[in-house]
Amino acid sequence: MTAHSKKPMSRTIESHLEESRIYTPTAEFSKEARISSMTQYRKMYRESIDKPEIFWAREANELLWRQPWSDVLDWKPPFAKWFVGGKLNVAENCVDRHANGSRRNKAAIIFEGEPGDRRVITYGELQREVCRFANVLEKHGVKAKDRVLVYMPMIPEAAIAMLACARIGAVHNVVFGGFSADSIVDRLEDSGATMVITADGGWRRGKIVPLKENVDAALQRYDKVRKVIVHKRCGNEVSMNSNRDLWWHDEVQSCKSTHQAKAFDSEHPLFLLYTSGSTGKPKGILHTSGGYLTGTYSTFKYIFDIRENDIYWCTADVGWITGHSYIVYGPLANGATQLMYEGAPNQPDFGRFWKIIEDHGVSIFYTAPTAIRAFIKAGDHFPAAHDLSSLRLLGSVGEPINPEAWMWYQQKIGGGRCPIVDTWWQTETGAIMISPLPGCTPCKPGTATLPFFGVDAAILDEEGKECKANEGGKLVIRKPWPSMTRTIYGDKTRFRKTYWSDYPGIYTAGDGARRDKDGNFWIVGRIDDVLNVSGHRLGTAEVESALVAHPAVAESAVVGRPDELKGQGVCCFVTLKEGHDSSESLRRELREHVGRTIGAIAKPDDIYFAPALPKTRSGKIMRRLLKELVTTGEISGNVTTLDDIQVITHLQNCIKV
Ligand code: WT7
Repeated sequence: MTAHSKKPMSRTIESHLEESRIYTPTAEFSKEARISSMTQYRKMYRESIDKPEIFWAREANELLWRQPWSDVLDWKPPFAKWFVGGKLNVAENCVDRHANGSRRNKAAIIFEGEPGDRRVITYGELQREVCRFANVLEKHGVKAKDRVLVYMPMIPEAAIAMLACARIGAVHNVVFGGFSADSIVDRLEDSGATMVITADGGWRRGKIVPLKENVDAALQRYDKVRKVIVHKRCGNEVSMNSNRDLWWHDEVQSCKSTHQAKAFDSEHPLFLLYTSGSTGKPKGILHTSGGYLTGTYSTFKYIFDIRENDIYWCTADVGWITGHSYIVYGPLANGATQLMYEGAPNQPDFGRFWKIIEDHGVSIFYTAPTAIRAFIKAGDHFPAAHDLSSLRLLGSVGEPINPEAWMWYQQKIGGGRCPIVDTWWQTETGAIMISPLPGCTPCKPGTATLPFFGVDAAILDEEGKECKANEGGKLVIRKPWPSMTRTIYGDKTRFRKTYWSDYPGIYTAGDGARRDKDGNFWIVGRIDDVLNVSGHRLGTAEVESALVAHPAVAESAVVGRPDELKGQGVCCFVTLKEGHDSSESLRRELREHVGRTIGAIAKPDDIYFAPALPKTRSGKIMRRLLKELVTTGEISGNVTTLDDIQVITHLQNCIKV
């Protein structure tokens, strides 16, 4: 890799030079890559936009279909059907296709637990485990389209559970292990799940996360779950309800390791994954089979330019979309070998990731800017103590990567030789939408660069006109793509309203962005009331309703403020009910309360007790003013719609103490 710009001469002009630093892949990398020149990218991109049916049919045909489709796309905005009439089995594509061929004894998953335990699972073994577990699910009456909630640590059994669901056509809903019992209840109620798969616990920073205990608490408030299957991970004491709870190891013992996989319609539901919105409860994002698998398969192949000998590692949790698309479905559909790590990046210290890379010879590493910033803070001596020369490609996802973090990643981790793919996408898009292709795209630190094949991304102004170069607007996708979400579970109205109502027939992502003169997309951040905390979306409304559920709180308003490590910090203003006084202990209690209600990720960073919140005459809380206050320390914006101007002075005082 070569930097074409000179070293910045002083700090003040650095920011101007920043954008002109361009990094192109080395000739060595390009030579071996699937897409090795911008000419090739442009040609394929053109075809994928002009004749998407031809492009996507070719990609989908690399997978195993039991019955061919009649039409590639049926598009009745905002509802899409891809590979209409086609039939396939997603798990068979991810597992059997490899296990029954030359990859039988190839490692599918190299696992490292937080305490240091290691396991290697070949494709052949994965096939047997998935089949066994599919038989277990069927034995307990799980049928196609039934919803199964998966609440697991980052262990191979999480992937096995998901694949077993896919194999029998059941719809998995993975809930991130960091979420609380309340979050489980919300998802159980919305999805109507009848089975839960969990573990006794999982290791995180040397402690056991009490997964089973959280499930027990949730099931006291939801009675439609018939069976709970519990994998023994930590050996911690758990209570087993003899009518309901089953041990994973007992169940698989009595089940066969072969299973006849049925073919399902291309539009058969594959999974539900809940994500935060600006209002109301999290939305159940629905993904289906043929299109989703084609999208994750194809993006993984081209963007990570996967090779037979690569050891790929994505540090996300299976509880997020990144874990679904780029730990389970994308890599396994490609027959890749991947590393899976259970625990925290700083256990026992910030050298853990680098030790894992060295020990296992990881060649492709995919992580989040929030982690990179934490590593920068921890110190260069951690990566420097390890041999990272096995790495050949780096990836980033979750939020905009600051140019400084990009440079550090490129130099300290990539040794200046690895391309970085900064991948923009969302739970709703299912697969990566904007990203460099590592063998050809010139990269500037901080931009996700150019759209992937078939992705008609643009930036529009309020009138729906395309913005000029460097003019900010709304990021939209103008054409349907195979891995797009099909709906919000049980709420088509909300689906239309949230994503398809700004411009007719066009998907609005909810992100603000601009394009530079070279066509690169620079994502600025969310335009709605959604925070991005450590690369994960968190609705301000969710935190607000958690706060208001506390007996001392009358009203609350939550806004994001810049945070060096997490991207955004959760900043809360609360007014208290009569008879309650502000105190340090109440502040602590509210933090814990939000953590218990939603999960640790939502714990407020700041809580300000205010005598009143700024409101419009019609009673709407003006979060815009609060955001300005916590970002700049004052309010200078338009306050003409504010009901009581006095409130401003009070608020300014309360953030000072
Ligand atoms: C939101 C989606 C997609 C997996 C992880 C998060 C932000 C994501 C980038 C990136 C700038 C990014 C956007 C997006 N985002 N990747 N490379 N550059 N912003 O999934 O929870 O669905 O959140 O994350 O704001 O809308 P998610």
